Amino acid sequence: MSYLANSWYCAGWSSELDSGTIGRTFLARPIVIYRDSHHETVALDGRCPHRFAPLAKGVVKGDTLMCPYHGLVFDRSGACVHNPHGDGHIPPNAKVRSYPVVEKNGAIWIWLGDPDEADIQQISETSWLTDKAYASVTGYLKVHANYQLVSDNLLDLTHAPFLHANTVGGDPEDSIGQQMEIDFHMDDGNVIHSDYLVRNMRRPTPQMRPLWGDRPGDFRAEMTWRPASVQELDIRMSPPGAPKTEGVHVPSLDYLVPENDLVTHYFFAVGRNVAIEDDEQTEMMGRFARMAFEQEDEPMIRDCQDLMGTTDLFSLQPAILKTDIASIQARRILNKLIKQSSRNAKAGAAMESA
Ligand code: FES
Ligand SMILES: [Fe+2]
Repeated sequence: MSYLANSWYCAGWSSELDSGTIGRTFLARPIVIYRDSHHETVALDGRCPHRFAPLAKGVVKGDTLMCPYHGLVFDRSGACVHNPHGDGHIPPNAKVRSYPVVEKNGAIWIWLGDPDEADIQQISETSWLTDKAYASVTGYLKVHANYQLVSDNLLDLTHAPFLHANTVGGDPEDSIGQQMEIDFHMDDGNVIHSDYLVRNMRRPTPQMRPLWGDRPGDFRAEMTWRPASVQELDIRMSPPGAPKTEGVHVPSLDYLVPENDLVTHYFFAVGRNVAIEDDEQTEMMGRFARMAFEQEDEPMIRDCQDLMGTTDLFSLQPAILKTDIASIQARRILNKLIKQSSRNAKAGAAMESA
């Protein structure tokens, strides 16, 4: 399994850095993230080059990070700048790699590929998370399955009336089959939109009822996917026939990052544009999201992964439904980008050795 290294991945929520370092494995690489004395974010390999201790358990001192085991100190470039032992000699391999990292709109973004390709303009522009017109909650869970299975789940929302009947899914009576209009399209070649519309839904989803009331409305779930695995979902409830901008808007973010082939970091956020001062609603919104993702999606995706026994979906010759179009296109785009990236890396290496 290969990953798309040349891509921005969410490494966590900015609020997590307020209480210290973050230590996580992304794309099978242990990483440590901290803020220096200027409040600048730093990302380094998370494994000390001496005896491989977790640097995330180290101590931030000014702009540097001290290993918790024998006290080597690294600066933001990853160079060892202090050896407290003996004559203080610093061996040449006492260094770690540093990675481009930025904080934007409440999230931390890391680039694990070629640093020369890291363009911060490519980071998602979504700003409702820091917009005062929205109340929001953020969360995290670990999914014990390949990240592409999690993407598949999010890109095919036809599972919602079955798996999420008590949380974020509509009543199967009026939200499956011909009742649901699905519009699939792509932008710029690499961005996928998968939009669902149920006109005059008789009963809103359990998540929507406290915000919209128990009355009919047009229900929309509009998903955008960007490589490698950034997903943004706009859920809306509007008066029947009214423009979608009227009514309740519940946007959510689903940022997936492979920890390795079989484990996925799932960072999620959910917002709303109504009753934004109501803490009880905020608490309930978080509860619905956690129930849906942790108790409904995660066990199902994990079970699928267990029964698949492989991360190569197509080797199992799955039955393909029309509603799989978005997830299949996303897989195609990702494969294409991974291949392109490895071709470019090989060409670069050949030029260097020529
Ligand atoms: S393991 Fe880090 S200083 Fe020894
Ligand atoms: Fe789901």
